Order: sequence, then structure tokens, then C-alpha cells
Amino acid sequence: MGDKLKGRNAVVTGAGRGIGKAIAVALAEEGANVVVCDIGGAVDGSGGDKTPADQVVDECKKHGVKAIAQYGDVSKFADAEAAVKACVENFGRIDILCNIAGIDKPKMIWNMTEQEWDQVVGVHLKGTFNFMRNAAPFMREQKFGRIINCTSEAWMGGTTHLNYGAAKAGITTLTWGGAQELGPAGITVNAICPRAKTRMTDDPKVREMVVKRVEKGLMDPSVLKRMDREMVDPSAFAKIAAFLASDDAALVNGQVFLTTAITIARYSKPAEITKAENPTEGPWTMDMVKAAMTPAQLLKDYVNPAPPAPPKA
Ligand SMILES: NC(=O)c1ccc[n+]([C@@H]2O[C@H](COP(=O)([O-])OP(=O)(O)OC[C@H]3O[C@@H](n4cnc5c(N)ncnc54)[C@H](O)[C@@H]3O)[C@@H](O)[C@H]2O)c1
Repeated sequence: MGDKLKGRNAVVTGAGRGIGKAIAVALAEEGANVVVCDIGGAVDGSGGDKTPADQVVDECKKHGVKAIAQYGDVSKFADAEAAVKACVENFGRIDILCNIAGIDKPKMIWNMTEQEWDQVVGVHLKGTFNFMRNAAPFMREQKFGRIINCTSEAWMGGTTHLNYGAAKAGITTLTWGGAQELGPAGITVNAICPRAKTRMTDDPKVREMVVKRVEKGLMDPSVLKRMDREMVDPSAFAKIAAFLASDDAALVNGQVFLTTAITIARYSKPAEITKAENPTEGPWTMDMVKAAMTPAQLLKDYVNPAPPAPPKA
């Protein structure tokens, strides 16, 4: 379809399904050879199946590029090393790395098990580190690389899956810091923050809830309209990742982009919003902190995101 990535070689994790698959195919459409990495597991990380990765390999090849599958677990360092090496050994070098693999095991913080924490953080955060760590030496050597990580709006907090949100926040930090460490070597590191309809998000109950709220006048109908336009197949925005992988994006580095079928938005980094200076030469005392922690100073424009619930009648 295009030739913006002709001759480039890519590793895409989570490429067997959903967003990873859409990106792998979008890169292939632009001429890149692709290592399709996918364990073929369920949303909760259980099981494994080679079929999704094999199918995407076939789909990529239809675009006249080379493609191979890797079925390893991104949370295992050795599997990441093997996937990156497979790219270099089969295609000659690794130019593009897209870290998209992910799972979700939602629980509230008071009933999340240690295993649920470790597994989710392992796939998302350690998985992203594993691939960046193994790809970076090759990219530094060739003085070229494009790394595209995958975060989520859950990075900003929110309830029900803090294992997932905290891991995504870590990926955002890996993106900002990785860009600084690798930028001087001609490598860009950016992240997408997607909204799409995949098996991870395709929950009819969410739409039903929004419909009810619109009917009750609690939500503007435009929210539902927007949601329907956004919750579509990720192929609707996969070319945003392909652009970030291209030569045209050489100067786009260390950025996090909301990516949906209808919007691209660029996030800012957190910044100080209020400040108090220690008025003495000594350490902060409790009284000094109390004096600063007021709506006039540190708590200016502050709203408690979750005040204590009123006692039940
Ligand atoms: N769908 C959305 O709206 C949305 C929103 C925000 C973030 N994301 C993120 O996008 C990414 C892709 O999610 P999706 O919606 O396409 O989900 P998906 O379940 O359709 O695809 C995830 C893929 O990752 C693979 N995978 C999972 N664990 C793996 C492991 N340990 N090793 C190798 N492969 C593994 C799965 O087999 C699957 O093919 C995830 O990182 C997810 O957190 C999705």
C-alpha cells in the first residue's frame, strides 16, 4: 500500500490480536518486515496458542514483506532477547520496536493478590523494559531506532486495576526517560495511549451504562456518539504508530499520544502547580507544613478526588 517503511525491520509484541495486530499489519503495509511476537493468551494472561501469531505472519506476508513469529512471553527477559535476535538474524537489523502486548486482571487494591500484581506488572512494565533493553544496543550501534510503547489512560489513576495503571505509568516513565537516554543516538522513544474496540475493552455493559446515563440526562448524548466512533477496530489509528516509526518522525521524541479513530492528542508531563518554600534554614516542622497546606497556598484549586463516603442511613 505504501513504502514509507520499505527496508525497515520491526519487532511488534502482542501482535497476534487487537492493537498489536493492527500495528504489525500497518507496518507491513508500509513495507517493513515484521517479527510477530505473541504468546496467544487470554485477556487475563492465561493459556497460550500459536495460531494468532501465525495468522498475522500470513497477513503481513500478503503485503510482500518478510514476517516470522515468536511465541515467547514478553515478561521473560530471555524470550525478549530471542525475539530481538530473531529480527537481527533473519532480517539483518532491528529498526522498529513496538511494545504492545498486554493483559488485564482487574481487582480493587484490597483484594488484589500478589500474583495478580506481579503478573500484570511483569507483562506490561517488565515486558517493555525487556524489549527496550535488548533492542537498544543494536539501535545504538546503527545510530537509528524507533521505539513505540503502549500506555493507557489508566496511567493517571482511576480505580479497579491499579496493577495495570501503575504498570502503564511505569511505561510512560520508560518512554520519557528512554527518549532522553537514547535520543542522542538517533533513536526516538514515544508512546501511544489508545482507545479501541478489542477483546480487552469490548464490554457491552459499559455502553449500556452510558446509554442509561444519557437517557437520565446525566450525560450529554455527544459522549455516546463519540464513544461509538472511538470504540472501533484499532486499524483505524494503526497508521499513527507507523508514522512514528517512519523517517518523517525523526524529530518526534519522548512524547505520549492519545490515539483513537477520531483524535490524536499529545499529553504534557506532570508539572508543579503550587509551591511552598521553607521559610527557615532548618528542616520543615509539622507546623510549617500545616501553614503551607492551605487553599491559599499548596491546596489552591484542589478538589479531593474521593472524599469519605457519607455514613449509611
Ligand atoms: N483496547 C484499548 O482500548 C486499550 C486502551 C488502553 C491501552 N491498551 C493497551 O493496548 C495493548 C493491546 O491491547 P488490546 O486491547 O489489543 O488487547 P488484546 O487482548 O486484543 O491483545 C493483547 C495481545 O497481547 C498478547 N500478550 C499478552 N500477554 C503476552 C505475553 N506475556 N507475551 C506475549 N504476548 C502477550 C495477547 O496474546 C494478545 O494477542 C495492551 O498493552 C493494552 O493494555 C488498550
